[in-house]
Amino acid sequence: MSQDPYELAKQSAAKLAEITKIAQHDVLVVLGSGWTPAVEALGTPNAEITVTDLPGFSAPAVAGHAGKIRSVKVGNSQTLIQMGRTHYYEGKGTAAVVHAVRTAVASGVKTIILTNACGGLQLKWKPGTPVLIRDHINLTGATPLVGPRFLDVSEVYSKRLRKIAQEIDPSLDEGVYVQFHGPQYETPAEVQMAIKLGGDLVGMSTALEAIAAREAQAEVLGISMVTNPGAGLTDEHLNHEEVLAAGLAAASRMGDLLKKVIEKL
Ligand code: HPA
Repeated sequence: MSQDPYELAKQSAAKLAEITKIAQHDVLVVLGSGWTPAVEALGTPNAEITVTDLPGFSAPAVAGHAGKIRSVKVGNSQTLIQMGRTHYYEGKGTAAVVHAVRTAVASGVKTIILTNACGGLQLKWKPGTPVLIRDHINLTGATPLVGPRFLDVSEVYSKRLRKIAQEIDPSLDEGVYVQFHGPQYETPAEVQMAIKLGGDLVGMSTALEAIAAREAQAEVLGISMVTNPGAGLTDEHLNHEEVLAAGLAAASRMGDLLKKVIEKL
């Protein structure tokens, strides 16, 4: 197994093609916490594999993250659906966090849809509300890029793809996603800081993957599902079961939205 992350992604893509018997893929969808039930709406898979069958992947650490990748034809796009991601808080480093993105790009993917569950900083967003990510603030202090890779990140999340999503569902709002390190949720003071910085959504994923996707020149759509108000904004306390329950309740709407977006690519 190569130590170079870009080489490792190529090896992983070759193995993916071998196991699925599908040489090329067009789209990657990463389903975050709570989004897994949305997978059924995307159709019958041509193949389903366990991530650990591919070099460089490790088993997911989180309940609600299944650790499988499906290959499904959605509209004209051969789509990889990744159920379960590696989070930065697992301590495996940024290369592990973005390995799925790099593998997908090495498989031919040009469009990457990153989804997540998050805390909402605007109380009008009730649990189960999808919000398009317009931009992010990366508070992890980390990056998947090593060395002088001076990447332009002035439009990480594609305007074109957001427009397509809003044509399908005009009620979709946009917001700025703030990635914290986790795995602890934010303190109320951290939530207030995120609001003052211009954030609308708080979570523990997505920004690092989006950076790697842009480095690889893929077009990125980010969709957050608000599962709870940010800590301290209401009297509620946070727990992972509630995050999963909000996902389950909204699953068919989310699956339908993803399907229609991919069909319009
Ligand atoms: N904060 C961070 N991550 C999350 C939250 C939250 O409030 N809800 C779901 N994932």
